[in-house]
Amino acid sequence: MKRIFKISDVIIKPVFWFVCFCLFVFSSSGDSCCNPLSMGYIKKMIEQEIPGVYVLSVMIGKNIVEDTENGFFSDVNEQVSMVCNQLAQDPKLKGGYNAMGFSQGAQFLRAVAQRCPSPPMKNLISVGGQHQGVYGLPRCPGESSKICDMIREALNKEAYLGWFQKHLVQAQYWHDPLNDDLYKKYSRFLADINQERAVNETYKKNLQQLEKFVMVKFLQDSVVDPVDTEWFGFLKTGQAKETETLQESVLYKEDRLGLAAMDKAGKLVFLATEGDHLQFKEEWFKANLLPYLH
Ligand SMILES: *[C@@H]1O[C@H](CO)[C@@H](O)[C@H](O)[C@H]1NC(C)=O
Repeated sequence: MKRIFKISDVIIKPVFWFVCFCLFVFSSSGDSCCNPLSMGYIKKMIEQEIPGVYVLSVMIGKNIVEDTENGFFSDVNEQVSMVCNQLAQDPKLKGGYNAMGFSQGAQFLRAVAQRCPSPPMKNLISVGGQHQGVYGLPRCPGESSKICDMIREALNKEAYLGWFQKHLVQAQYWHDPLNDDLYKKYSRFLADINQERAVNETYKKNLQQLEKFVMVKFLQDSVVDPVDTEWFGFLKTGQAKETETLQESVLYKEDRLGLAAMDKAGKLVFLATEGDHLQFKEEWFKANLLPYLH
């Protein structure tokens, strides 16, 4: 399997859900959500390990090609509400479910937890998610790729303009610490779910319904910048070098999202693993993540 600016998928139980939010894989083989070598492979492994598990696969877009394109060009808020509808309509999920999101799928799933409390999400597992967004697109998706250069340039200049916020997925979690005001004001997705403009008490209450919120960070991640975002940290505002942890952030200190309360209640789990973005060993996955899916 080639690289990877990877996917965003979701897995859930009781039952469980395997969403091909499926964005965004770039490999020479045109990997998409349902490529058996990638997320399809994980789905299969989980089905083998947890007999009787129900894995729901949600694809955004009508087919795999569209799905891959949707990884770049679509409105995340709309995608989230589509997924909410799909979950609400699945009788097998009525009693609740566990969810697992890979890469950008992780922050999208957190939006599902915050906005759509029914059916209830129990554990949320974020694998290489970008909860404070990204500032930079290293190795995206290959040095020679035109689309990547275009996107990077566009994001630097115009991430917060209307068209990009509505249509370019990466713009919707682009977090520019040098233009914090613009980010707060115009980021339609991330600034909203991270309570940057106002505190929506509903978001706070819903997120705290989770039993566990597990965040996995990849220690050699060369795709996500800064990697601290995988544990809900980010660059300190006003510069682009020094980072701060979740616990050092205003979000936590003012507890705008309920994360400090969840931390005190032992609901936040921070895991780290060796490897580049989404490159984990099957044994590690089984030992560390599967227990949250039972
Ligand atoms: C808070 O979030 C809920 C759930 O998405 C939404 O229905 C409501 O309109 C939001 N409230 C405000 C003030 O934005």
